[in-house]
Amino acid sequence: MHGFHYSGNQLKCEGVSVAALAKKFGTPLYVYSQRTLAGHFQKLDAALAPLDHLICFAMKANSNLAVMRSLARLGGGFDVVSEGELRRVVAAGGDPRKCVFAGVGKTGAEIEFALRKGIYCFNVESEPELARINKVAARLKKIAPVAVRVNPNVDAGTHAKITTGTYENKFGIAFEQVAGVYARASKLKNLRLRGLQMHIGSQLTAVQPFELAVKKVLPLVTKLAAKYKFEFFSIGGGLGIVYNPALASGPAAWWQTPAARGILTPALYAQRLVPLLRPLGLRILIEPGRFICGNAGLLVTRVEYVKRTGRKNFVIVDAAMNDLIRPAFYDSYHEIVPLKRRGGKTVSSDVVGPICESGDYFCKNRPLPKVGEGDHLALLSAGAYGSVMGSNYNSRPLAAEVLVNGRQSALVRARQPVEDIWANEKIPAWL
Ligand code: LLP
Repeated sequence: MHGFHYSGNQLKCEGVSVAALAKKFGTPLYVYSQRTLAGHFQKLDAALAPLDHLICFAMKANSNLAVMRSLARLGGGFDVVSEGELRRVVAAGGDPRKCVFAGVGKTGAEIEFALRKGIYCFNVESEPELARINKVAARLKKIAPVAVRVNPNVDAGTHAKITTGTYENKFGIAFEQVAGVYARASKLKNLRLRGLQMHIGSQLTAVQPFELAVKKVLPLVTKLAAKYKFEFFSIGGGLGIVYNPALASGPAAWWQTPAARGILTPALYAQRLVPLLRPLGLRILIEPGRFICGNAGLLVTRVEYVKRTGRKNFVIVDAAMNDLIRPAFYDSYHEIVPLKRRGGKTVSSDVVGPICESGDYFCKNRPLPKVGEGDHLALLSAGAYGSVMGSNYNSRPLAAEVLVNGRQSALVRARQPVEDIWANEKIPAWL
């Protein structure tokens, strides 16, 4: 399911030429395919159909209001991690009663806001947090729905910065301690023990870690569900996507479906997990972020200069690490393709941004088609953890975002006016 493809030699997003979008809206520009977003959501929804389930999109991956609206329309809820995110849900027309609130550091004010909005559940990461939620709920004369996040201590085999399910990191409550925590929580008058939650990490490309974690937690959730009359079990997010087609088996064209390349698909995920989860008789929640939106977006950038040193061919583009930080931060791979495909030899290139840091690169020594000033490139699989991790470093405005639907396109975030970057800054009177 991929809304991006070449038609002739032109890169298109659904029925729209990406070059035309770059011309109209300028660069750096995020372009999202609504068909891809919806398609990923619906595939997952269909695969989980044998279960009573709710997909809570992890909006930290992409919180553009239009992206969120398109998922809310399909019946999706959201996994939120701050008051700001919950306010975005409301602004996008989503339903807080389909939202779970995660995160290790919820403030009293955030808890109060979520309770007033009727949040479906707080995913609780520590005992002091349980006590705080109980206290806020008592003050508001409300009963707060909670689920403890269990840390199953399963190594998800992913990048160290995005693994969460082992005792080496700050998330959740250790597997061995969970039963005791529920026993103590059951004595807190303003809590309703609504379920149990886990999340083991992000960008998992095999089904085994999910299977292992679910198998490990099943006896615990079965026991606790009977004792406290749970309504749900959340198995978290983490489904990975294909970033580098060359690493996947099978034909290596980036627009081909992951299924064709033997990658983790909703069908495989469901095939292994549904039989384990169904006997529980609970509602199953999942919190996918990247799987829904990762391959639904790309970042378009313009080539400013080509600089040939004795050793290197630097392609200097107008996007930078402030627009897409993943390569700098996680050494992650993003496929880079030209908007206009042409034949000819490839050149080993470093694609770099204009920011004054050596870490400001998108690829190193990668064979790329020869490009020159004014050509455009697309960084693929940038729909998740792309725009949302953007910053104003070097006083660079946040990029514009466009949503495509068939032959229609709309600007869903205008490029940030440069003066907005310092709009909240003040010069003290003594200067
Ligand atoms: N649920 C919880 C509790 C999470 O912490 C996360 C992601 C998700 C769900 C969604 O995970 P996903 O389905 O997207 O893998 N910035 C990093 C990824 C950080 C993930 C943080 N937590 C990156 O660019 O790879």
